[in-house]
Amino acid sequence: MRDELFDVTDKICIVTGGLGQIGQNFTKALYERGAKVAVFTAHPTPERVERIFPSDQYQKERFKAIKVDINKKDTIEAALDELQELWKEVPDVLVNCAGIDTQPSAPPEVSGPFEKFPEEVFREVVDVNLVGTFLMTQAVGARMAEAGKGGSIINIGSIYGMVSPVQDIYAYKEEQTGVPFIKPVAYSAAKSGIYNLTRYCATYWGKKGIRVNTLTPAGVWRDTQDEVFIQNFTSRIPMGRMSREDEYNGAVIFLASRASSFMTGANLVIDGGWTAW
Ligand SMILES: NC(=O)c1ccc[n+]([C@@H]2O[C@H](COP(=O)([O-])OP(=O)(O)OC[C@H]3O[C@@H](n4cnc5c(N)ncnc54)[C@H](O)[C@@H]3O)[C@@H](O)[C@H]2O)c1
Repeated sequence: MRDELFDVTDKICIVTGGLGQIGQNFTKALYERGAKVAVFTAHPTPERVERIFPSDQYQKERFKAIKVDINKKDTIEAALDELQELWKEVPDVLVNCAGIDTQPSAPPEVSGPFEKFPEEVFREVVDVNLVGTFLMTQAVGARMAEAGKGGSIINIGSIYGMVSPVQDIYAYKEEQTGVPFIKPVAYSAAKSGIYNLTRYCATYWGKKGIRVNTLTPAGVWRDTQDEVFIQNFTSRIPMGRMSREDEYNGAVIFLASRASSFMTGANLVIDGGWTAW
């Protein structure tokens, strides 16, 4: 039975970074509910598509992966033109999920102390996480506004954009390797900008029916994470575990559908309670 409230059938959805760890789950969740899904990503490899749709099991007319650099306007516009040609309408939903972060395995040159944190790394991280989200929102929102049919833009934030990282979690790296790991400022600064980019666009396009919200995830479990890291991170989460990578799907379907029709400029926090204390 189709649930009218959460229905996304035939909606044209773009997911940036839609073959990444969290993004692939959004792609799949929207596609499985009948949406037409276009992934805009730097790495649209067949192996990554295969992770979502094993053995090529998808309707070609409802899924497209396009190579896009979200920091390059010309690649964004070319991909949007391609979609318009293919599906004949402007997008209904944009999920800005592409991003880069610095993992504890990163070398000291990109994870050193704040006092020495390199300007070029700061600029690069802000460029992808904030400027890229701005460029995508600008390009897709402009088309939504011109078409006059409204839409939903979902920006993926982070608990580290709402509050500062807890540096104690990463202290184990120095014990293990002799080299300290400082979770960098760049990701936090970039992600924090997402919250007011969201509010700005929500008020700017409010009367045009384009809703803009942030979805804030917390740490997602990966099988490559260090056991001590998992233990340390988990001990800060009231729910006592990291998230699974598919635990944000419900929120994306909610934000993409009529179920959230009066919600804009908001921040939907799904963090196992991380920011509750
Ligand atoms: N994984 C987590 O624990 C976590 C926690 C909080 C927030 N987030 C946020 O969720 C989102 C997805 O995270 P993830 O862990 O799935 O990341 P991921 O690295 O698995 O996927 C990110 C994707 O973005 C794409 N990308 C990067 N730069 C790009 C560019 N310039 N143009 C186009 N595509 C580009 C990459 O190809 C990759 O597929 C990110 O915004 C991240 O900041 C993740």
